[in-house]
Amino acid sequence: MIHIGSFINGKERKGDGRVQQEVRNPYNGTLVGVVDFSTIEDLEMAIQNAYDTFEHVMRKMPAHQRSTILRKSADLLEEQSEDFAQLLCQEAGKPIRDARGEVSRAIQVLRFASEEAKRNDGELMKMDAAIGGEERIGLVKRKPIGVIAAITPFNFPLNLVLHKLAPAVAAGCTVVLKPAEKTPLSAMKLVQLMTEAGVPSGAINVVNGLGADLVPPLVTHPYIKKVTFTGSGAVGFKIQEMARHKKITLELGANSPNIVFPDANLEIAVAGLVKGGFVFAGQACISVQRIYVHRDIYSSFVDAFVSAVQSLNAGDPALETTDVGPMITLEAACRAEAWIQEAVSQGARLLTGGQRQGTLLQPTVLTNVTPQMKVVCEEVFAPIVTILPFETEEEVIAAVNDSPYGLQAGVFTSDINRAFRLFEALEMGGVWINETSTVRHDHYPYGGVKQSGVGLEGVAYAIKEMTEPKFLGIRLV
Ligand code: SIN
Repeated sequence: MIHIGSFINGKERKGDGRVQQEVRNPYNGTLVGVVDFSTIEDLEMAIQNAYDTFEHVMRKMPAHQRSTILRKSADLLEEQSEDFAQLLCQEAGKPIRDARGEVSRAIQVLRFASEEAKRNDGELMKMDAAIGGEERIGLVKRKPIGVIAAITPFNFPLNLVLHKLAPAVAAGCTVVLKPAEKTPLSAMKLVQLMTEAGVPSGAINVVNGLGADLVPPLVTHPYIKKVTFTGSGAVGFKIQEMARHKKITLELGANSPNIVFPDANLEIAVAGLVKGGFVFAGQACISVQRIYVHRDIYSSFVDAFVSAVQSLNAGDPALETTDVGPMITLEAACRAEAWIQEAVSQGARLLTGGQRQGTLLQPTVLTNVTPQMKVVCEEVFAPIVTILPFETEEEVIAAVNDSPYGLQAGVFTSDINRAFRLFEALEMGGVWINETSTVRHDHYPYGGVKQSGVGLEGVAYAIKEMTEPKFLGIRLV
């Protein structure tokens, strides 16, 4: 059993045992760890250390050294990858094969950050483009922003933490991390690993506890220069309100759409959409939620899709054969089940799934849904997929865009002209052709439009958001 507390100035700091939380395996309730909650004094200390380490160490650390630390972190993570995967499987209930996939992505994030740490970070201005700018030299250097508050969700307890820590180290910033209450163990193990790889004491600090207690004093602290948050819109926009004068990145939710045209390769579309709808029980902001299928192929698509969903193994995440594991809490599973029942009571057809045993919700497919049903218009964040027919390109574009969200979309077609038209027309942060909305590689710009977010992640893009341009002008005399 793992016992953690806070991590401040390079050392673990346990509490007095009075305020603790258990971390239990969401599938079978086994105790995985215990967390001592950080106090407000711990939080103050974490921020002060992050500030001092920024001023005296990180902002002066040469790029080659930051790069080496990140590379060593990647090497160590690779050596310990199976331990991390097992921990992710236990604390988040992530099926072991998917947990291994998350670790492998996390290693890549560290390697990307190690490379990015060495890239040029400024520009030489063409000063004589401006009248009066002749005989001047102008240069722009990007400077690390300072102390960053990072708040992360339960669904990728390792990789979404690294999407904040690795760019911060590459940029020369320091961090106070508040990981998800349900999954703080792998975050702590990661920070210890990065410390072993050479991250200076005080550069990455971790506080644990309830968001309601720690987040307001964290994000409003005067030493915090930037807040980066991944999670729900409800929480994200409150944080934005609290941290009004700070730089902010918000990676929020979506009701991700995918479109299948009659000229698509149906085998590829079905296989991808089944995986994308049910991987980690649909608990990702880009999880396939709405599938729009052209009427000409609607019934053959639905038959193939439902039969593939019925062949998924739902159960114990520790088994190599499991495709769909539990949801993170009983409350989350009951909420998703209630949305299914509500949709059915409003006229939706339940083609498969819908049953729940504890936290395990069977992979569910609904048709005959309307745009007003919660399972369509809100973020389900559960193993629930809806299928809707369409007739024209214009109609499906309008249906997809009729959403407060816009993160990623998938489009299945073999027509390159259509692919570009859809790319232009869909109000999204990213569009995949012949891949689903759930696909993400960690180096490309990732971020939503509308209520799906503010700012970008993707290692190089996150580094940009963690640095500020500073201009130097020289008049030649
Ligand atoms: C998310 O759910 O926020 C991120 C999904 C991913 O990184 O694959």
